[in-house]
Amino acid sequence: MSWEESTREKMLHLKLPTDPRWVNIAEMQIEDILTDHAYCEQKAASSCISLILRFFDLPELVDTLTPIVSEEWGHFERVMEQIRKRGLRFGEPRKDEYVTRLQGFVKKGGNRWQQLTEVLLLNALIEARSCERFKLLSKNIEDSELQSFYYELMISEAGHYVTFIELARKYQDPEKVNARWQEWLSFEAEVLKEIGIRGDRMH
Ligand SMILES: [Fe+2]
Ligand SMILES: [Fe+2]
Repeated sequence: MSWEESTREKMLHLKLPTDPRWVNIAEMQIEDILTDHAYCEQKAASSCISLILRFFDLPELVDTLTPIVSEEWGHFERVMEQIRKRGLRFGEPRKDEYVTRLQGFVKKGGNRWQQLTEVLLLNALIEARSCERFKLLSKNIEDSELQSFYYELMISEAGHYVTFIELARKYQDPEKVNARWQEWLSFEAEVLKEIGIRGDRMH
């Protein structure tokens, strides 16, 4: 099975495909999209750092996430490079409604393993959606350099998505993880439906 096929199979977990018109709108606001994307990469790095701080006593988690921090920071650097070389402005950080809404779905309480599952699934979901959006950009954006840039990042974020899910299944009963994952997927689809498509946001 090719990488594309296996990822497509996994990506089908998302319950609401992005409206294909999003790419056209995004393309017209590429300065906003790249700015938002840069902040997404920063947040991805810092959420891995938070996991490492909180679950320092889980060696496999720490060792798995440590290189991802550098990878996400590398993505941030590369997005900045795309902004600079186009003479675009790196704008101010904006309120991230998508992530804020998803964070609100994290179950409070429960034991430490349940809390870990929640955070890992939240991260997995953001990776999965980013991967889906990067794929759309890589296929449909006119700028050929951004096409290959987003193709490469799509592969990387798909790997992170799988890593987060696998970590969740390692520390918690996989059946429970799968059941909760379905709830996360349904919730995410609702959130996206409510937010609608916006050309100035990656999500
Ligand atoms: Fe990334
Ligand atoms: Fe990632």
